Amino acid sequence: MEIKPKNILVCVAWPYVNGPPHLGHIAGMSIPADIFARYNRLIGNNVAMVSGSDMHGTPVTLLANDLGVTPEEISQKYHNIWSDCLNEMNFQYDLYTHTHTENHKTIVQEIFKNLLEKNFLEIREQLMPYSVTENIFLSDRLVEGECPEGDNDKARGDQCDVCGRTLDPSDLGNIRSKRDGSVPEFRNTSHFFLKLSEMEEKLKDWLNSKTEWRQNVKNQSLSFINEGLKDRAITRDLSWGVDIPVDGWEDKKIYVWFEAVIGYISATVELFKDSNNPEQWKDFWENESSESYYFQGKDNIPFHSIILPAILLGIEGKNLPTEVVANEYLNFSGKEFSKSKNWAVWLPDFLEKYSADSLRYYLTSIMPETSDSDFTWEGYLNSNNNELVANLGNFIHRILTMTHKNFDGKIPNFDPNSKISQEIIGKCNETIDEVGNSISKRRFRESLNKLMALSKYGNQFLDKNEPWKKMKENKEEAGEILGQSIIIIHALSSILEPFLPNSAQKLQKILFGKHINHWNLLLPESGKSFEKPNPLFTKLDEEIVIMENRNSLNE
Ligand code: MF3
Repeated sequence: MEIKPKNILVCVAWPYVNGPPHLGHIAGMSIPADIFARYNRLIGNNVAMVSGSDMHGTPVTLLANDLGVTPEEISQKYHNIWSDCLNEMNFQYDLYTHTHTENHKTIVQEIFKNLLEKNFLEIREQLMPYSVTENIFLSDRLVEGECPEGDNDKARGDQCDVCGRTLDPSDLGNIRSKRDGSVPEFRNTSHFFLKLSEMEEKLKDWLNSKTEWRQNVKNQSLSFINEGLKDRAITRDLSWGVDIPVDGWEDKKIYVWFEAVIGYISATVELFKDSNNPEQWKDFWENESSESYYFQGKDNIPFHSIILPAILLGIEGKNLPTEVVANEYLNFSGKEFSKSKNWAVWLPDFLEKYSADSLRYYLTSIMPETSDSDFTWEGYLNSNNNELVANLGNFIHRILTMTHKNFDGKIPNFDPNSKISQEIIGKCNETIDEVGNSISKRRFRESLNKLMALSKYGNQFLDKNEPWKKMKENKEEAGEILGQSIIIIHALSSILEPFLPNSAQKLQKILFGKHINHWNLLLPESGKSFEKPNPLFTKLDEEIVIMENRNSLNE
């Protein structure tokens, strides 16, 4: 029976472009999203993986101010850097755009007007912090103070990083400007408010129906609603952002979070705009059998589980998120990544020295799925040398070189129907199913462990059967063992693809002479030639740990 392909929208959080990416950024969003998207493409689903740079908002404005350049220049500069790095990491975004495009602006403004017509927006006066020293309204991220929950005296005006709740500046105790420490005055200003309170019941029912979500994501979202959803201002006193499409509001802009989450829609539209079917974006947003997954760090949860669904409910959109797949944080040697303290491993620096696949591997193996995890250089070295090289790489390379050398570059004679071959084929098929199953449940560490277990099984099979010894005594028997081992390599060449696309493609090139998109076991055929293998992974010198640790302390 033919299974109908599904439409799967893979949404990746939109980074602020006020600096280059660091490892923390990609561990929680791009890596899981890319594994998930690649796997779904391999099994034949229609995938659109979209995202882009979040060009507006305070972080960019501030940096531009500090450097004395325009926000446009600085955001474009870092947008380019982000795009290049994401490419180098082999993340297969169907579109990585940004929020300062005409297309995005038009769609955001249409949605704004739509909500206004449907009576989900309302103009209200609001007291906002105003800096008397700088003569500006201080936006959310420019003020800090005590979270009303009480566990954090450095909560920002939009959110508390400790409890995850979204805040308004007026919620903060002991408020001060992050620019100069001065105490702001609260002054009246008018803004458009999104009437979230009217959506409370619908959002609650929708969230309660999500039985498969990660616990922390669901709990955080529900506890937020249970406190009573407050209407929120979706415009700001700012000069950099998307214009408000209403006369008389020329000196204010649309709130960055409101427009950034609409980026998922505008990017899907942009993706198909110049294709022969520009309406195809609707397959992902208006066809109720489509699924959508949102990958991000935990500080983004309420914007995807409350604000975006509220906007979609307001405009009578059909497809609310299937799942908000949020990760916890990746730390660096025990401390949070921090741009301001320069405590980070920057991706452009990393990629100058090390390979994308070795990083994809390590970050997947420690992905902060259910609790924070830690990048260390020791961990990276061990993961590369002991797992990638010693387990996976050696297994593949040992067999392929031995076979190539002794069997004239061809797959030796072996019986695929023998008991042992059948056992191996069974094990490979089981692993392919299990890895796929774990990926489709968004359990990425588990899926990688299952892949590596197959390689370990292969190594054990080799160690038990020692084909290198049999090669002299009984070449035929050695050939049988090598042929059987190559079954495992064939399986690996397929299931490696979502995780380590570069290495998988190199391996497929050796085995099949080309890149083949497949998620099943292609049995090796005796007598078929394959290319002379080169090692897929390279051992790293232990010195790098000392060197890199020294570098990060000196910077
Ligand atoms: N720019 C935000 C951040 O870096 C994330 C925005 S995600 C979006 O935290 F969906 F709103 F775009």
